[in-house]
Amino acid sequence: MTAPDRIAEFTAAVAQTFTDGSLVRLKLGGYHGEEADLKSVEARRVSLKVGDRLSFVFRYKTTDITKNVTLDEAIGFLEQGLASGYRSARLETTGFDLQFERQNDKLRLKRTEVKGREAVEASHDRTKNRPLTDMSAPWLHALGITGKDGVVRNDAQDKFRQINKMVEIFAPLIQALKAENPRIVDMGAGKGYLDFALYDHFAKGTDRSLEVIGVELRPALVEAGNALAKKSRFAGLRFEAGNILDYDASGADAVIALHACDTATDDAIFQGIKAGAGLIAVAPCCHKQIRREIEAGTSDDRLDFLLRHGTFMEKQAEMVTDGLRALLLEASGYRTKVFEFVSDAHTPKNNLIVAQKGNAGSREAVLDRIADVKAMFGIKKHYLEGLLGL
Ligand SMILES: C[S@@+](CC[C@H](N)C(=O)[O-])C[C@H]1O[C@@H](n2cnc3c(N)ncnc32)[C@H](O)[C@@H]1O
Repeated sequence: MTAPDRIAEFTAAVAQTFTDGSLVRLKLGGYHGEEADLKSVEARRVSLKVGDRLSFVFRYKTTDITKNVTLDEAIGFLEQGLASGYRSARLETTGFDLQFERQNDKLRLKRTEVKGREAVEASHDRTKNRPLTDMSAPWLHALGITGKDGVVRNDAQDKFRQINKMVEIFAPLIQALKAENPRIVDMGAGKGYLDFALYDHFAKGTDRSLEVIGVELRPALVEAGNALAKKSRFAGLRFEAGNILDYDASGADAVIALHACDTATDDAIFQGIKAGAGLIAVAPCCHKQIRREIEAGTSDDRLDFLLRHGTFMEKQAEMVTDGLRALLLEASGYRTKVFEFVSDAHTPKNNLIVAQKGNAGSREAVLDRIADVKAMFGIKKHYLEGLLGL
């Protein structure tokens, strides 16, 4: 086979897999052309209003440039590029990888079969609307979201969807904060998925500087988080070891908590209220405290048709816990909203309580409602009430 045949074989595979939708990614490397700062080139298939295109991202030392081209234009570019400018190219598809190498006059092509790689949905809008777009970010790989190939791992799809959704929801809320350089404290940060995502998005997306602090009980996670923040050069992101309740959150503009266990969510809300944070947002986890209260207390007989079934009791405990949290936030001067941040197909713990400071209405009226709800469900005390001294 002659040298141009190898290039023709490679471009034919690109054309075939682009057309049948099995193209996952195309990468070009070993650039030795005239553009001194060009590091690498990557392309994916995208669906635009004008039709399907190959979206090339040219990565330069300090910036990325995206060009969406037709298949014919892409083939023309590849024919030229593989003959001179680039020494290597890799086509990744759902069924095989095709590696092209050029060393002086020698051209090599190696095909490797692959199994289990999923097709990439070619929706440009989805990518454009998703806040986290830089799939090569080292933190995504270090936290196990992307594989070595920069593609979201199958077992991390839900997590990736959740953090994107969170960033999407938090972005306008954080923008709305009056603080010039907002300080966000994430209580029960775990490995810090949300913190890295928020910082990544805001550090790139705006010229406001941002401080994100993850508070976490487990020192090993804190150490790992700080090392990764340093490696990622996220100067405003740090993790601190400690208990939510003992943390000094004064100066926080936003206090958030994603799946902090049971009453740790209340500890986070309390800290937000105590700090006078403009935004408090929590996605609660388990709801054991109120379930125990309902089980031990005497609820309105009319609720018996629900509460005698374990599954409904569980759901009621969840709703009552979070409904009371929303009311307690209102009694503390916050406007609240509770909504599902992702479908329950991705996580059953999908409710988000968002509270923004101001215009909360009459405290007395809210306290009366809280007393009514507690009496109805036979609840002596919501843990958060105790923290708030109510
Ligand atoms: C279910 S994980 C969620 C982690 C992270 N927010 C996320 O969504 O990926 C809950 C985390 O909260 C931490 N945690 C629980 N109670 C805490 C407390 N009182 N103080 C600090 N961290 C706590 C746990 O160690 C754990 O890492």
